[in-house]
Amino acid sequence: MQDSRGDEVELLRPADLEALLDALRRGAVPLGGGAGLMSAAFADARGRTAVDLAGLGLDGLGLDGAADGRVGAMVRLSRLAPLCDGRPAIAQALAATGHPGVRRLITLGGVLGARSPRADLPVALAAAGATVSVLDAADGTVRELPALDLFDLPGPFAVLAVDLGPGMPGVYRRFTGHQAIAPSLVSVAAVRRPDGRVAVCVGAALPRPRLVDPDRLPGPGELLDDGEASAGYRHRIMRLLVAEACEALAAGRTDQPDPADLDPADLTGRPTRDRPGPHRTPSPSPSPSSPSPSPSPSAEAAVLVDGEARPAPDGSRPTDSLAWWLRDRGHLAVKVGCEEGTCGSCTVSLNGEPVPSCLVPVARLSDGDRVDTAAAVAGRPGGRAVIGALAGAAAVQCGFCTPGVLVSCGSWMDRHGALPADEEGIRGMLAGHLCRCGGLAAAARALCGVCPGAGPDVDVDAGNDREVTA
Ligand SMILES: Cc1cc2nc3c(=O)[nH]c(=O)nc-3n(C[C@H](O)[C@H](O)[C@H](O)COP(=O)(O)OP(=O)(O)OC[C@H]3O[C@@H](n4cnc5c(N)ncnc54)[C@H](O)[C@@H]3O)c2cc1C
Ligand code: FES
Ligand code: FES
Repeated sequence: MQDSRGDEVELLRPADLEALLDALRRGAVPLGGGAGLMSAAFADARGRTAVDLAGLGLDGLGLDGAADGRVGAMVRLSRLAPLCDGRPAIAQALAATGHPGVRRLITLGGVLGARSPRADLPVALAAAGATVSVLDAADGTVRELPALDLFDLPGPFAVLAVDLGPGMPGVYRRFTGHQAIAPSLVSVAAVRRPDGRVAVCVGAALPRPRLVDPDRLPGPGELLDDGEASAGYRHRIMRLLVAEACEALAAGRTDQPDPADLDPADLTGRPTRDRPGPHRTPSPSPSPSSPSPSPSPSAEAAVLVDGEARPAPDGSRPTDSLAWWLRDRGHLAVKVGCEEGTCGSCTVSLNGEPVPSCLVPVARLSDGDRVDTAAAVAGRPGGRAVIGALAGAAAVQCGFCTPGVLVSCGSWMDRHGALPADEEGIRGMLAGHLCRCGGLAAAARALCGVCPGAGPDVDVDAGNDREVTA
């Protein structure tokens, strides 16, 4: 089947900061996790050039001073959780960002670089006094800025690193009109700074997040009035959230989410494979007369899909999604539903991490990457046990969501040996999966404690195989 996206994006891979600066000056759009590349948010890159920041050494955890709160811009959000220790407002904003599968793909630099007024993390980072290290293409310098100053940078820039600031008590609150993954209508972070002052930042309600005085909040005239909510409605919600956040801070209710809850597959600390490339220490003053970024590598690389080697994508259509790339090659266990990362039906295991494949640009595949679809998982003892449990409890209706669920279960069992013992644990594991038939409640009951070899064995090759691979 033909990919639904025909637009071409040329993808450059700079070898160092000088080449990155050169690309930015030529109008190239920086690429972090690339999740936005698969959505309308990246429309401005289409027909243009994107510059891939992977390979610049911006993902170094522990190497770039992570211990004191400084992290590289290419750090995936799933790996950020342990570094938020003692920074509850940032940890709570992290927990509010998307779902675990999304957090395994998107980067800290990408969340900041998108400059969305509705993003969660910038609000908490601003309240916590975080600063960003930015390569500003306007003057070619690397500068340290308060996080919110990014919104005012006029020209192209690349976030290189983020200083999360010292540990401080804080809270993050958001209000959304929908229960599932949806942008906030209002978000608020309140943090007690070391000098005792409480810093409050409001996001989502304003055209850009802003530090505010809790006693003199922005009036309705300054707030967004759009199809999601009126300014008056946002104003009332904002006052409530600010009051509640300040009260919680004063009462010491600054609980920090457990890192294991933020990534229920317990993947934190595991290296994320990126395309091999030179890892250089950022140099502070790139010269404008630097060489051009190197083009994409050749197509001789191979990717292991369900155990079989396939030639890696040749780089000619970097905005094709992994989901369609797989389906085009006959891997029909990959179901494509929303194509925006919310339903989970396209979930595959990429190097052991369950991710929505519709959000993975094929350009991010590297030589030796391992992709497992539901077809591979279904053939393993753990997969057979999951299918047996679901079938035994009649927990599947149309079956469209089942392959993605199977992959998430398989990845969990690979790490933990068995699925979570209770329904709450199963729901955490399946965050990011939606079932349009409403069957996940039954699935959550059926899957408690399932492990390889448990439950009725199903003849996958005869019947259920058609269900997961057709
Ligand atoms: C399913 C889904 C759910 C989401 N839910 C939430 C949510 O709940 N809360 C929330 O806050 N956000 C949410 N997001 C938005 C997400 O935070 C942004 O799309 C984010 O930009 C993706 O990060 P990325 O690393 O993939 O960025 P990319 O897609 O690579 O880039 C996004 C933008 O940032 C720029 N950029 C990337 N890296 C850098 C850099 N280092 N320096 C400068 N600019 C850069 C790019 O040029 C582009 O304009 C969600 C996204 C998806 C797909
Ligand atoms: S999450 Fe990929 S198709 Fe819905
Ligand atoms: S069973 Fe139909 S989408 Fe889940």
